Amino acid sequence: MSTSAAGVFSGERAVEAPPFRPPRRLRPNARLAMDGLEFLSLLPGEAVPVAFLDPQYRGVLDKLAYGNEGVARGRRRSALRQMPEATIAEFVRDVDRVLAPSGHLFLWVDKFHLCEGFEAWLEGTALDVVDLVTWDKGRMGMGYRTRRTAEYCAVLQKEPRKAKGVWKAHDIPDVWREKAPRTGHPHGKPVELQGALMAAVSNEGDYVIDPAAGSFSVLRAARNRGRAFLGCDLEG
Ligand SMILES: C[S@@+](CC[C@H](N)C(=O)[O-])C[C@H]1O[C@@H](n2cnc3c(N)ncnc32)[C@H](O)[C@@H]1O
Repeated sequence: MSTSAAGVFSGERAVEAPPFRPPRRLRPNARLAMDGLEFLSLLPGEAVPVAFLDPQYRGVLDKLAYGNEGVARGRRRSALRQMPEATIAEFVRDVDRVLAPSGHLFLWVDKFHLCEGFEAWLEGTALDVVDLVTWDKGRMGMGYRTRRTAEYCAVLQKEPRKAKGVWKAHDIPDVWREKAPRTGHPHGKPVELQGALMAAVSNEGDYVIDPAAGSFSVLRAARNRGRAFLGCDLEG
């Protein structure tokens, strides 16, 4: 293995997060109830190495009838505030501002957004897609043709884009099977996968943010992995 290949596959992280103390209004490791855009506006630029964003998009709702997803789940889902496309783009722009150089945004998308593309959300940012993880939920969902069992986590990195010395875990498969957490939230994301991803691109004690945290699965993942969490949801 050449020296540079050894570097890419090493478990070392050569970058350190900049020193960061959250503003007084934002209590770390708590379920804050507030608007995510307001939350982001309170954070300084280039402050954190990792962000997660799982937008409450309505693209799929515009195209698909959910059919027999179950009355209770449908009711819980439609009670959540939808984010118009322009709002999602604003979230992504603000996350881009708050991320440290070479920082990562893990952006959850469904099959619809994966196929239609989400470049418009990245306009005017220093973010680019560098990888993709398929989350196999191990459970059959709906679909007129094939039945959905997966969602997708796009891995976006802020400039300068590089893996060497930044991404330190080399055992994460790009198809990850994990049951959805049972939280009562209709969009809960896998805690173990999110933990593995944040651990790959941060050091212990670093801050991880999630401005639309839903069931706060990222908070649970951060606790498990010794990272500090800052995040909110309208619902708290
Ligand atoms: C897809 S869910 C997130 C699920 C989360 N990743 C989890 O694992 O539970 C999106 C969340 O965005 C929230 N939301 C919608 N608009 C928001 C806003 N402006 N600020 C903060 N949260 C918002 C909704 O209440 C919903 O809980």
